[in-house]
Amino acid sequence: MYIGHPSVRPQAALLDPELTLCLPPAATAATGIVALVHGIESPASRGANAFSVACATQAVGMVSRALPAAHRDGSDLDARAELMMGAHLAGQALTLSGLGLVHGIGHALTAHTGTPHGVALAAVLEEVMEFSAPAAGAAYEQATRAMRVPPPDDGDWARAAVTAVREQCGALDIKRPLRELGTDRDLLPAIAAGATADAVTKNAPRLPEEAEVLELLTRVY
Ligand SMILES: [Fe+2]
Repeated sequence: MYIGHPSVRPQAALLDPELTLCLPPAATAATGIVALVHGIESPASRGANAFSVACATQAVGMVSRALPAAHRDGSDLDARAELMMGAHLAGQALTLSGLGLVHGIGHALTAHTGTPHGVALAAVLEEVMEFSAPAAGAAYEQATRAMRVPPPDDGDWARAAVTAVREQCGALDIKRPLRELGTDRDLLPAIAAGATADAVTKNAPRLPEEAEVLELLTRVY
């Protein structure tokens, strides 16, 4: 369940990248990929507007450039600073827009297995993007351009987007099959049910049936 209310929203955020210098590479990857997913999923969601898309697009550009550098060299203060600001902008975007199915599955996966948020998102990111692409083409094009990917010869930006996130996740070595995340095959139906019922999933560009979520989970098991 979620616990949240406007009264607990911070009135100010202090973004001090020096505080993140000692974050180990695996935690840098997991938290950084969360920011990237926020930046990709927010503009594709039903709640997106021009302002949230602007924040998310800038966030994707900053995070996709800084995350590999911060992961490679945790003492790179410029990369840490860019990553932190990108993550903050992605948070501003999602606060306005909401998110979608990557988070719906991620929440359920974490609730059942304790998998860190970013690792849970990375486990299904590519597959959810492929599923959502028919309804999210323009958003994926904008995100992929922000990642400085050159225009694909065939104009298939959705596939270029999936390739780009695969490369990002590959460089971070963060994507794991569900069977390595403490998930028994018996758990998949409960995760699919939880993901489908999650309020965040109702905001996805392409609404999934529970059976489609289960099929997706089975593929990444
Ligand atoms: Fe998140």
